[in-house]
Amino acid sequence: MCSPFLKQERKDKMRLDKYLAEVGLGSRKEVKALLKKGQIAVDGIPIKDGKQQINELQATVTYFEELLHYQKFYYYLLNKPQNVISATEDKWDRTVIDLLSEEDYRQDLFPVGRLDKDTEGLLLLTNDGELAHELLSPKKHVEKEYYAKIAGIVTTDDIEKFAQGFALRSGELVRPGELTILSTNAEDETSEISLVIHEGKFHQVKRMFEAVDKKVTFLKRIRMGTLKLDKNLPLGSYRMVTEEEIESLKKG
Ligand code: URA
Repeated sequence: MCSPFLKQERKDKMRLDKYLAEVGLGSRKEVKALLKKGQIAVDGIPIKDGKQQINELQATVTYFEELLHYQKFYYYLLNKPQNVISATEDKWDRTVIDLLSEEDYRQDLFPVGRLDKDTEGLLLLTNDGELAHELLSPKKHVEKEYYAKIAGIVTTDDIEKFAQGFALRSGELVRPGELTILSTNAEDETSEISLVIHEGKFHQVKRMFEAVDKKVTFLKRIRMGTLKLDKNLPLGSYRMVTEEEIESLKKG
């Protein structure tokens, strides 16, 4: 799979027919017919040639005098269910992109980071490569908060160890994380915890618990930076991220 960042076009000009298709006026073929009929104007001048280049952020484009609005970036907050993979396409499994409705699907959307197939919770889908890069950059230490069920009794020693940072079984070092015990059940030897980490190594939460001889049996991401999972967003559902949430995420 190619890097999602490479898919992003950083041009301030685009073909008029592409623009019209992207604002939802129809397929390339349909918009070609509208253009031919002289129903589209750019800055007040009817244009029939779909190949014409326009500045999509500055041009005034109208269809029958109705002003069209171009949106460059899209952001969706998804509550990822289990058995769906964090990729844009896959031969065998359903991907998080497959969960989008036909209306919201865009070819350039991708998930910001990965959750394991059996992990649930918050996943940001966007076509904004710059924001994705900021959120995933190891230098930025963006917080990720998880809720987990653990086989084993999590102890205050574990909290201290997690707070120091330590070596995983592989020898890889993890930075300090904030572990909170939500509950323990002595009878069936299980615990519920929340954990805030500041990096995103492969299977990181599972491997952190393995290092203290415990097993994650359920994992859900509930926050990334300032973006929180809505309690009322059902598994497999998504909603648009608000402008305030995007601003706050960008500010970090
Ligand atoms: N840590 C994990 O082990 N799995 C995830 O999906 C996310 C963080």
